[in-house]
Amino acid sequence: MDAFRMIRPALFALDPERAHGLSIAALKALPGRGARAESAWPLATQVAGLTFPNPVGLAAGYDKDAQVPDALLSLGFGFAEVGSITPFPQGGNPKPRLFRLVEDAAVINRMGFNNGGALAVRERLARRQGRPGIVGVNIGANKDSDDRVADYALMARAMAPVASYLAVNVSSPNTPGLRALQDEGALGALLDAVIAARDEACPQHAPPVFLKVAPDLQPADVDAIARIALDRKLGALIVSNTTIARPALRSAHADETGGLSGAPLKDLAIARLRDFRRATGGAIPLVGVGGIASADEAWERIRAGASLVQLYSALVYHGPGLARRIVHGLEARMRAEGFSSIAEAVGTA
Ligand code: FNR
Repeated sequence: MDAFRMIRPALFALDPERAHGLSIAALKALPGRGARAESAWPLATQVAGLTFPNPVGLAAGYDKDAQVPDALLSLGFGFAEVGSITPFPQGGNPKPRLFRLVEDAAVINRMGFNNGGALAVRERLARRQGRPGIVGVNIGANKDSDDRVADYALMARAMAPVASYLAVNVSSPNTPGLRALQDEGALGALLDAVIAARDEACPQHAPPVFLKVAPDLQPADVDAIARIALDRKLGALIVSNTTIARPALRSAHADETGGLSGAPLKDLAIARLRDFRRATGGAIPLVGVGGIASADEAWERIRAGASLVQLYSALVYHGPGLARRIVHGLEARMRAEGFSSIAEAVGTA
């Protein structure tokens, strides 16, 4: 039994948000090795002009304030996405706002973009500049902003110099009205503003822009988003955020308001990934997220069209050794099925 399974009952006896805080504190105390500068990465893969040491990333929402990106990379993640971050610090929704659905291997959250704001995060990321490792910055808008497009543009300008990539999050269910930015009319203008701000801030080495979408989109939305993403030459689409749907759940917290993640999100996230694969014809890399907890599930997502994968909820249930286990399992699957690289396996199912 690994150490995590021994301490899990103690962690689960705590309020989830307190357990999360303790895990960040523990990572801060970890001797900082950062990303491994390995000369041979068997799972290395190129996406959007970046070289990822392996395709398994930490999804946004765990390290909202970029407090521990290097510790996360040292756990074996091939990349870490910090955020979502908004221009001004904000407290988020009243507590409780984070729920473990243990019987469902799931999480519901309505955090509402609690974060320390752009300035604090930019300073923290600036201090780690020059270190190896891919750290994406997920950007959002303040809840009380009266010009959300301006918020995203401001965030792109502030974060582009310190981000490996920018992830435009228009899919959180916990900021009222935010997901309307996925609508065809709004999305093109939003992305144009983000791209212009990024180019202004980084005329030389502009980080690619990724777009993170909801799993609750309709087929017509998928087609429209795919067209806009192709037209703007986005670096990748991240599919997907949490769902407002409630598939059959067993846990007492099943009816809490918020976004559902973990195992019950899996089928929906795969369905949307396949939709986007079809709609983009493979012309834009996809990042598969939602309910991944094992190497087999990561492999399935890659075969369905994901160039990269991310996870968050499974860490709650399986602990910090999970990234490394998935990476090793993926390497075994890749070799067993006769592929010489991850890129070769993408979309082959
Ligand atoms: C999230 N997620 C998230 N996504 C995002 O783009 N910005 C954010 O701030 C957050 N915050 C957040 C908080 C908590 C507590 C959870 C559980 C999730 C969504 C996350 O990045 C991911 O898309 C989903 O959780 C689906 O993946 P998993 O958790 O099923 O692996």
